[in-house]
Amino acid sequence: MSGRSLAILGAGGHARVVADCAEQAGWSGIVFFDGSDLPPPPGPWPLVGTPADLMARLAEFDGVIVGIGDNAERLDRHRRLSEAGARMVGLIHPRASVSPHAEVGEGSVVLAGACVGVGARLGQAVIVNTNATIEHDDDLADGVHVSSGAVLAGGVRVGERGWIGAGAVVRPGVVLGRDVRVGAGAAVVAPVADGLTVVGVPARRLDH
Ligand SMILES: CC(C)(COP(=O)(O)OP(=O)(O)OC[C@H]1O[C@@H](n2cnc3c(N)ncnc32)[C@H](O)[C@@H]1OP(=O)(O)O)[C@@H](O)C(=O)NCCC(=O)NCCS
Repeated sequence: MSGRSLAILGAGGHARVVADCAEQAGWSGIVFFDGSDLPPPPGPWPLVGTPADLMARLAEFDGVIVGIGDNAERLDRHRRLSEAGARMVGLIHPRASVSPHAEVGEGSVVLAGACVGVGARLGQAVIVNTNATIEHDDDLADGVHVSSGAVLAGGVRVGERGWIGAGAVVRPGVVLGRDVRVGAGAAVVAPVADGLTVVGVPARRLDH
């Protein structure tokens, strides 16, 4: 992979995390495309254009990935780029541990210290953040984010765009629906229906 050029859509904090991971995984020529009014991101990777510019320059890059933390926006952008013919790539940090018998979808990132066990399946545009644990046979649908230090025990399923907060724990075999949010530090011991937010130990529905 050495010497290959990578375009990252987004230029915020998560985009810089993705760039850093990509560099350590051997990519070079890493650039950002972003449409926000924010100042250029700190660090060695330049902001070279807008999302529209990226669409016009797709053929120039060996790889493209979306570096946006928001699950819905990341997944939507990923799908549009993919449909436009971009070479969407996944990234695995060199200090992550991913079983050769796990599946990591296009546009997904597995960050430093994370573990992905045997039989696990990660869909597209998934984030497995720093030091998170995805145990054996877990199934993460497209656009899921498992935040830093969270632990999904074996056989857990997470629906599209599900978000597991930092340090949360999910009991074996529990099924979480689409667009579920699990608060930081929660312990999820029962299924969670689509669109709900749960917090606490044991996790309870948050109504507000
Ligand atoms: C659960 C979460 C999504 C809710 O966000 P929100 O809808 O904006 O909720 P609010 O911040 O308005 O909080 C609503 C209530 O829930 C409580 N609450 C929020 N997060 C909580 C958590 N993780 N555990 C326990 N209680 C929590 C708040 O104290 C507040 O209680 P109150 O109504 O009695 O004052 C969010 O707080 C959270 O934990 N996100 C995870 C962040 C994270 O881990 N990021 C890591 C990125 S790597």
